[in-house]
Amino acid sequence: MSQHLQHDVLVIGSGAAGLTLALTLPSHLRIAVLSKGELANGSTYWAQGGVAAVLDHADTVESHVEDTLVAGAGLCREDAVRFTVEHSREAIQWLIDQGVPFTPDDETDREDGGFAFHLTREGGHSHRRIIHAADATGAAIFNTLLDQARRKPNIELLQQRVAVDLITERKLGLHGKRCLGAYVLNRDSGEVDTYHARFVVLASGGASKVYLYTSNPDGACGDGIAMAWRAGCRVGNLEFNQFHPTCLYHPQAKSFLITEAVRGEGGLLKLPNGERFMQRFDPRAELAPRDIVARAIDHEMKRLGVDCVYLDISHKPAEFIKAHFPTVYERCLDFGIDITREAIPVVPAAHYTCGGVLVDQHGHTDIPGLYAIGETSFTGLHGANRMASNSLLECFVYARSAAADIVGQLDDVTLPSKLPTWDSSQVTDSDEDVIIAHNWDELRRFMWDYVGIVRTNKRLQRAQHRVRLLLNEIDEFYSNYKVSRDLIELRNLAQVADLIIRSAMQRHESRGLHYTLDYPEMQAEAHDTILLPPIYAD
Ligand code: FAD
Ligand code: SIN
Repeated sequence: MSQHLQHDVLVIGSGAAGLTLALTLPSHLRIAVLSKGELANGSTYWAQGGVAAVLDHADTVESHVEDTLVAGAGLCREDAVRFTVEHSREAIQWLIDQGVPFTPDDETDREDGGFAFHLTREGGHSHRRIIHAADATGAAIFNTLLDQARRKPNIELLQQRVAVDLITERKLGLHGKRCLGAYVLNRDSGEVDTYHARFVVLASGGASKVYLYTSNPDGACGDGIAMAWRAGCRVGNLEFNQFHPTCLYHPQAKSFLITEAVRGEGGLLKLPNGERFMQRFDPRAELAPRDIVARAIDHEMKRLGVDCVYLDISHKPAEFIKAHFPTVYERCLDFGIDITREAIPVVPAAHYTCGGVLVDQHGHTDIPGLYAIGETSFTGLHGANRMASNSLLECFVYARSAAADIVGQLDDVTLPSKLPTWDSSQVTDSDEDVIIAHNWDELRRFMWDYVGIVRTNKRLQRAQHRVRLLLNEIDEFYSNYKVSRDLIELRNLAQVADLIIRSAMQRHESRGLHYTLDYPEMQAEAHDTILLPPIYAD
């Protein structure tokens, strides 16, 4: 039997954004935090490098703002950048107060101006400003926040719950536009439950799984973006998918990132013959922003017809490497690569969704009662290219801001009256799951080939043609068969792929992460790409 559940706040996502919001809300509110798999399944757990913030005496808000604007290639919203950076120190203090075990400063390492924690460096940053827990910052943050959330009786942590779609007054044909809750597949019971809530928060991560090669965990399917779009929210700048320059290249190493901090601490990129090449592409060489480094690697791999390039930090003392990068060291060793002695084979892979659901500084979407925070959202912070380690910072700053906004509205919003249950009377069990697996594979492959690091009009048209065919096929499948996690994710991936392609087709220039051979120049004026959902045509 499907269930009806009521909460004050329904949070769809248990990563940095969702947990921060839940922990920041007052403890008299009933809060549900959902994860579609295990609670640790989001990208947060896998974050390596750290969190960017102005912490060093020698650093300034102006400098962090300026670096972010430069990396964003003229497309960041300056008010969003300033808002985020100005709140960076208090966000880090909140994490320290929660008990996150950041790596302490080692005075033999560097002069830090007196800050108690070690700060590392990554591409685009003109100062050391990345606070971290060795090279497993995400796990340290996630474990700490989860531990805190488990101590709060008002927070229900629910895993294996896959949100299918949002429930809105408009969809129910009621007067008004408010979001009232969501339909959620309970993978334990197989039923689709109805969640009513006074406020719904999308904290469901990015969409990099739309590409064949990605650093992201399996769930990064853009569910939040697709659900918001179907419910009637605008989305923005989805053509800017970031490719991380250095993922481990090894047939058995699925999605393993080699943190940018390796380059921050002196790692050098080399061709198979041992020659360095980044200085030919940018004076900042290995520490140029990610779009430049990923494109340079892609260029060299295509020019030489090689499968990978190499990242070499073996010139540093072995003890330094093991202390700073224990996770990378161990993981590479699992594959027979000793990074204290040899270079690491690396390739670029899809890593981060810079665009998403359009929000303001409080995480408000276009639908009253619906918020979006973290990688699902488009705040304007990242522009055409996110600067390293600004993503986790955005999760904390906007989650705290959205929580404060919800508190300010509590007196005005009551729980919605009973909502209709999910109707599964017309569907049967699928006997052709192979179609889902096949379509997943096809989608991710053509997105990689046609909508990847270097684009052309023709490639985008090809991709659009294919994605439209897939969308029709998936729609038919969705109407006739019971929903499963795979089907829900495929439907969302195809939706987001279509939005990425449409956004890319609208941008007639090359800027930041969007590079097209048909329009290689950057236009003088910068514009966001905002897509309007079908309800705007009504
Ligand atoms: P996530 O942490 O991705 O969490 C998403 C949550 O939503 C999950 O709980 C998932 O189960 C849930 N969910 C999704 N869809 C549904 C659904 N339909 N129903 C129910 N639940 C759903 N950024 C930095 O700033 N610094 C770094 O060092 C860094 N390193 C990174 C390393 C790696 C390998 C990766 C992949 C990313 C890294 N990033 C880093 C980016 C950063 O980790 C992410 O942008 C950030 O963690 C996103 O947090 P989030 O809370 O928005 O989403
Ligand atoms: C990394 O450690 O290289 C990832 C940092 C990020 O994505 O911000």
